[in-house]
Amino acid sequence: MASAQAIYTNEAVMTTIVESQASSAELFLGAVGGGAEVVASIEELRQHLMDRLDESVVILGPSVNLTAAASLAETLRVDRPALSIVLVRQRVDTSVLGDALRSGMREVVEQRDLTGLSLAVRRGHTLYQALTASRGGTDEAAGGRLVTVFSAKGGVGKTTVSTNLAMSLSMLGHRVCLVDLDLGSGDVAISLQLFPVSTIVDALALVGDIGAEELAPLLTKYSDNLWTLLAPNAPELSGSIGRHMVGTILTALKQSFDYVVVDSPPAFDDHVLQAFDHSDLLLLLLTLDIPALKNLKITLETLHLLNFPREKYRIILNRADSKVGLTPGEVEKTLKAKISASIPSSHDVPASVNRGEAIVASQPKHPVSQIFMTIAHEAVDAMPNVTPRVAPTTPAHRSDPEGDKRGLFRRKSRIA
Ligand SMILES: Nc1ncnc2c1ncn2[C@@H]1O[C@H](COP(=O)(O)OP(=O)(O)OP(=O)(O)O)[C@@H](O)[C@H]1O
Ligand SMILES: [Mg+2]
Repeated sequence: MASAQAIYTNEAVMTTIVESQASSAELFLGAVGGGAEVVASIEELRQHLMDRLDESVVILGPSVNLTAAASLAETLRVDRPALSIVLVRQRVDTSVLGDALRSGMREVVEQRDLTGLSLAVRRGHTLYQALTASRGGTDEAAGGRLVTVFSAKGGVGKTTVSTNLAMSLSMLGHRVCLVDLDLGSGDVAISLQLFPVSTIVDALALVGDIGAEELAPLLTKYSDNLWTLLAPNAPELSGSIGRHMVGTILTALKQSFDYVVVDSPPAFDDHVLQAFDHSDLLLLLLTLDIPALKNLKITLETLHLLNFPREKYRIILNRADSKVGLTPGEVEKTLKAKISASIPSSHDVPASVNRGEAIVASQPKHPVSQIFMTIAHEAVDAMPNVTPRVAPTTPAHRSDPEGDKRGLFRRKSRIA
C-alpha cells in the first residue's frame, strides 16, 4: 500500500542543488533522492537552467552567498514563477528568513534538517505540477460546485456518503476534492487508506493570501481525479482553525476543482456553518430512528432560520430497509419534506471501508453503488455548468506511479 509520501518520491523530481562543498552536496543529494543534479555556483546554475525548462526546485546550499541568492530569486520569481527556490543555511534566524521570503524564495531550511529539506523539495515539486498543469485554457468563470454532506447525529453515514459521492463524481470524469471537515475525528483518511503528509491544520502555517497555489501542497492524492484535504490525526491540533480560515480554504478549492465534497462532524459547529455558506447543495442524512429524525427536524428548522434556500438541500435516507418500526412515509410526513434518495443497508459497505475502498469503485454494480451513482448524477443536475473535461473512467489506484503526472488543479489559472 502506498502512502502519499511514496507517491511523490516515485516522481522524477527535477531538482538542482547549488553547492560548492562536496560533502554538503552529497548529504543534500541523499535527502532529495534520485534525479537531482549538483552545480557549484549560481553562474553554473543560470547556464544549467537554460537547458531545463521543466526544473521544479533549486536548492541553494550554505556556500551560496545570501545577496547573490536573493538576486537570483528575484529574477526567477518573474522568469520562472513555477520554480521553487529552497535556501539552506547553517542557522536560520528571522533576518535570513525575512530576506529570503521577500526576494521570492519559497522555503528556508537549516542545514542539518534533511527531512525538512526533503519535504520542502516535495512541496516545491507539487507546486510546480499545480502551476504548470493549469495552463490548459480553462473556464475559470464557471467555478467549482460545493456539496456538503451533513447530519447532526453521529454514525448515520456522512463519511460513507461523502466518500462514495466524491468517488462517483470523479468516476464521471470530474475533478473532485473531498474535504474532511470532521476535524475532531475525521475518518476520510482511514476510509480510503490515505496517509497524509499534510492536513488541513497545515493551513495555519500559511501566511498572506491563501489561494489554490498555497493549498496544493496540503492535498493528498487518491487518484488522478480525486484529491483530498484531510483532517489531522491529532484532533487537538485543529482547535485553532477558525471559521474564516475554513471559508477561505473552501473558496480556494472551488476555484480549482469541478466539485468539492465536504464530509462534516455530527454537530452544527462554526466550520459546518461556514461550509453551508459555501454550499451549492446540502445532502442531509437520515436513518430510520427517532434520534436521527429529531436531529434532522432541528436541522431543517435551523436552515429555515438561516434562510437557506429550500432548493439547495436534499434529504437522503441511509439504511433505508432497516426494519425498526419507522417507515419512510412516516418520516416524510413528520418532516413535511420528501426523501430524495434511499440507500439500502449492506454488510458490503463496512466491508469495503475495512479494505480502504469506496464501494462505488470496488463494486460498481452493487445496488448500494448504483444509488451512489444516481446521487452523483442528481448532484450534477442540481449544480450545473460544470463540464467533465476528461473521459469517464475507473479511478487509477493511489499507488499508480503514473498517477501524479497529470492532474492537480488543471483548471486553476489564478497564478499561472
Ligand atoms: N448503507 C449502509 N449499510 C451498512 N453499513 C453502513 C451503511 N452506511 C454506513 N454504514 C456503516 O455505518 C458506520 C457509520 O458510518 P459513517 O462512518 O459513514 O457515519 P458518519 O455519519 O460519518 O459517522 P460519524 O458521525 O461518527 O462521523 C460505518 O461502519 C459504515 O460502514
Ligand atoms: Mg464520519
